[in-house]
Amino acid sequence: MDFIMCGIIGFWNIEKQAFPVIIDSLKKLEYRGYDSFGLAVLSESGSLNIEKQVGKVSETKCNEVSGKIGIGHTRWATHGKVTEKNTHPHIDCSRKIAVVHNGIIENFQELRNELLRTHKFFSETDTEVIPHLIEDEIREGFSLKQAVINTGKKLKGRNAFVVLHADTEEIIAFRNGSPLIVGLKKINGFSEIFIASDIQAFLHETKEVMYLDDDQIVIIKEKPEFYDINTNEKIEKRLIKIDIDFSPVTKGDYAHFMLKEIMDQKQTLMKAINQNDRELMHVAEEINNSRGVFFIGCGTAARVCHTAEYVFSSIADKHVNFVPASEFGNYKHFLLPETLVIAISQSGETADVLEALKIAKEKGSKVISIVNVQESSVSKISDYVFHINAGPEKAVASTKATTSQIAVVILLAYACSGMLREGDRLLVDLAAKVNDMLNPRYSEHIKNIAEKIYQKENMFIIGRGVNYPMALESAIKIMEVSYIHAQGFGGGELKHGPIALIEEGTPVIVLVSNDVSRDEIISNAIEVKSRGAKIIGIAPENNEAFDYWIKTPDTSEISSSIVNLIPVQLLAYYLGILRGHNVDYPRSLAKSVTVK
Ligand code: AGP
Repeated sequence: MDFIMCGIIGFWNIEKQAFPVIIDSLKKLEYRGYDSFGLAVLSESGSLNIEKQVGKVSETKCNEVSGKIGIGHTRWATHGKVTEKNTHPHIDCSRKIAVVHNGIIENFQELRNELLRTHKFFSETDTEVIPHLIEDEIREGFSLKQAVINTGKKLKGRNAFVVLHADTEEIIAFRNGSPLIVGLKKINGFSEIFIASDIQAFLHETKEVMYLDDDQIVIIKEKPEFYDINTNEKIEKRLIKIDIDFSPVTKGDYAHFMLKEIMDQKQTLMKAINQNDRELMHVAEEINNSRGVFFIGCGTAARVCHTAEYVFSSIADKHVNFVPASEFGNYKHFLLPETLVIAISQSGETADVLEALKIAKEKGSKVISIVNVQESSVSKISDYVFHINAGPEKAVASTKATTSQIAVVILLAYACSGMLREGDRLLVDLAAKVNDMLNPRYSEHIKNIAEKIYQKENMFIIGRGVNYPMALESAIKIMEVSYIHAQGFGGGELKHGPIALIEEGTPVIVLVSNDVSRDEIISNAIEVKSRGAKIIGIAPENNEAFDYWIKTPDTSEISSSIVNLIPVQLLAYYLGILRGHNVDYPRSLAKSVTVK
């Protein structure tokens, strides 16, 4: 099955060529996938001009195609090869219907097997069933609008797709699960209309938007017309003006976004803690009065959720649960209207998070979110939103958003304990320490350590307490950027099995904080050192167990989660560079994972 995660763009106008507009938008959507890209444009003669390329749209040349109305797609595939024929748009047998799609058609095999009796398939994708289904519906006498609705209803799973038909001068988009947003621009009296998976695709062109909701279609032609797919009734939409700064983000003097974003942490913690006290206290009250709190997120954000368990226990004496968003469905029986679900997401577009929030909403539970991207799908469905204000995070590996999310979690825990002022003071102090820590000498020292270990194929990271989820997060960072196999463990767990993997020279990173756990984690370091491990101690003080020492500011146990993670982010960066990888766009990954 070809699970596709991607960015979609559609552009309608009567004046200018669609090609450069679509290419520009696809570049903005690259964070959703960068394996391959393609576009279909309606030519003057009424045929579809299609171009596809394997590679990143920002780095790959694509033949220009002529026409004013078009659709485009940038793809990330986990199943089904990255080939030109699997690249969107996909077409029907008559080559008149082109489709770009985001989502997973869960019943695609069934649909494809049925269609194979009368249709010829050109790709291995699940998407291709859509144009063939539309083709059948039209053959049966349905209008394009109805054919799209009927087809959309046949698809199981979370999907969004955009259709361009050679015989009509309109674009039709269907949404059920994956986001789609319409952008409107008037220029010299003429309309330009965009439809995309994310406003970022056209925010450089217009800030005026209309949201397409689930179970709706939009027909784009001169002006957008929205319809409910179940009642077929027309829906009037409000035009919303988005108030977001969309100035282009650059790397500045840095070689990579990842390094820039690590360095941005000199300022981002202060921005994260600049929250509205009244809102913090209000949400804290909700947490204190709730029956069950679940922190949910994916990947790195899930590690922050895991950290929240320790933070709330230590600061607010409160038990909160952490569940990876993709597993949240298994906990739905525990959800009550008094339960709080707190989602953490940088992008606010992660499919597993959105799916978990849908479950929470169905159960009547309140949803709070901690997000970076404003106007994201997660923020839109949350009852309360805390924006971390970290600014755009472009590198696939999350760095500054992570520490900002932890800072907001710490602040919330202090608010719950009735000590918001103290929390604020502690975090301001922490932000100053991080600012001092991130200096060129510090980076150079970490780079030197990376040079000693970059050829290793296995690495381990251990920590206790709040540094246990940070050890897990450290492993994610090292793996995704350097492709070195890295695993994080609670310090006490190594001797129950994983210690068998320690060989002469195996690097083990030890995350230390100056509290009751210090002696224990040092003992764990000594256990692996006596089996040949090379110890990289990340700690406020040096220790004879360390082969290499990365000094961190002496902070509270909870704040050590932030100060211990930052040097690992730098280490991961240098390991990736030394191994010759594209650290901003690691292989097989995407910034935002928009499929389940
Ligand atoms: C971070 O380094 C990872 N690339 C990834 O795990 C990420 O944190 C995860 O996909 C969740 O993304 P989100 O925060 O945008 O929801």
